[in-house]
Amino acid sequence: MRRGGLVAFPTETVYGVGADALNPAAVKRIFHAKGRPADNPIIVHIAELKHLIILSEEIPPIAKNLMKRFWPGPLTLILKKSTKVPQEVTAGQDTVAVRMPQNNVALALINAFGGPIAAPSANLSGYPSGTTAEHVFQDLQGRIDLILDAGPVEVGVESTVLDISTHPPAILRPGAVTPEQLQAVIGEVTLGGTSRISKRSPGTRYRHYSPRAQVILAKENSECSEMAEEFAARGRKVGLVIPDPAPHMARSAILVKAMPQDLEGYARRIFATLRELDEQAVDLIIVKEVEEKGIGVAIMDRLRRAAAG
Ligand code: TXA
Ligand code: MG
Repeated sequence: MRRGGLVAFPTETVYGVGADALNPAAVKRIFHAKGRPADNPIIVHIAELKHLIILSEEIPPIAKNLMKRFWPGPLTLILKKSTKVPQEVTAGQDTVAVRMPQNNVALALINAFGGPIAAPSANLSGYPSGTTAEHVFQDLQGRIDLILDAGPVEVGVESTVLDISTHPPAILRPGAVTPEQLQAVIGEVTLGGTSRISKRSPGTRYRHYSPRAQVILAKENSECSEMAEEFAARGRKVGLVIPDPAPHMARSAILVKAMPQDLEGYARRIFATLRELDEQAVDLIIVKEVEEKGIGVAIMDRLRRAAAG
C-alpha cells in the first residue's frame, strides 16, 4: 500500500479493496480495477481518531456523539473534507465519507499502514459485494495486488451512510446500523431517495448489487412459487430465494435457496446466495421480500437495486 498497491481486506460488513487514501494515483487504480464510475466517491477507513484529523477539520458535535456510540462499527459519516483529501477520493465533492470498521484485521491493516485507507466494496462495479475472500478473488483476480482472507464477514450488507450536514440528518444509504438505532441517539432522521440525495451519493443511483440473472421481487410465498413454476414451464432455469420453511418445488429447473428467518442471518447470506445462483447459471432469480424493519431496511434497499430495470 505504501508503494501505491491495492489490498483487499475484510471489514465487519463486506470485503473492501483499499489504497492509500492520500495517494491520488493509487486511488485511481481502485476505480480502474472495479470498473467504477469516476463520479462515485469512496469511503475512507480509519483505525484511530488521529487519522480523522487528517481528513476533516470540522467535526460537528452530532458527529462526535455518533462516533462515540457506533465506532468502530458500520456507520459512515459524511464530513466536510480537508485540503489533504484528494479529489479522486471524493469524486470532486467537498465532503468526505469516513468510517472506523469493527474488524481486527481491518484495524490492524490500517494501523500497520499508519494512515487512512480509501476502500470501496471489493467487487466488480454493479455486482453484489463480496462477503468472502473467494468472492473477491473471483471478481478482482489479476486486478489487485493482495487479498487478506479472514473468512466470511459478520454482517453481510454495507455500512449505513449518513449525511449530518442537513437537519434532520439523512440516511443516504441504509445499512447495518438501523434507522431505529440512529433515532435512539440523534432523534429524527430521514431516509434517502430524493434527487438531491442521489446526486450527493452517486453510488445509490445506479443499478447495483445485481447478479447477472434478472431479479424479480414478490411479496407472498404463493406468488413466488407460482411465478417460479410458470417460468420453469417455459423452459427457464429459476432461482427461488425464500426464507425457511421453503416450499418444496418438484421441477429440477427450480433451485430453491432457503434463507435464515432472522434478518441478521438473512443479511449475512444474501449476496453469497445471489452469486451462487449466478454460478448455477439460472436465467432469473425470484426473491421473496423481507420485512422492512431493522436491518431489513438495508436488505430491501439492496434487493430493489438488484432488481432495478
Ligand atoms: O460497509 C461499507 O461501507 C463497505 C466497506 C468496505 O467499508 N464499503 C462500501 O463502499 O460499501 P462502496 O464504495 O461500495 O459504497 C460507498 C457509498 C456509495 O454509495 C458512495 O456514493 C457513498 O458511499 N459515498 C462515498 N463518499 C461520499 C460522499 N462524500 N458523499 C456522499 N456519499 C458518499
Ligand atoms: Mg459497493
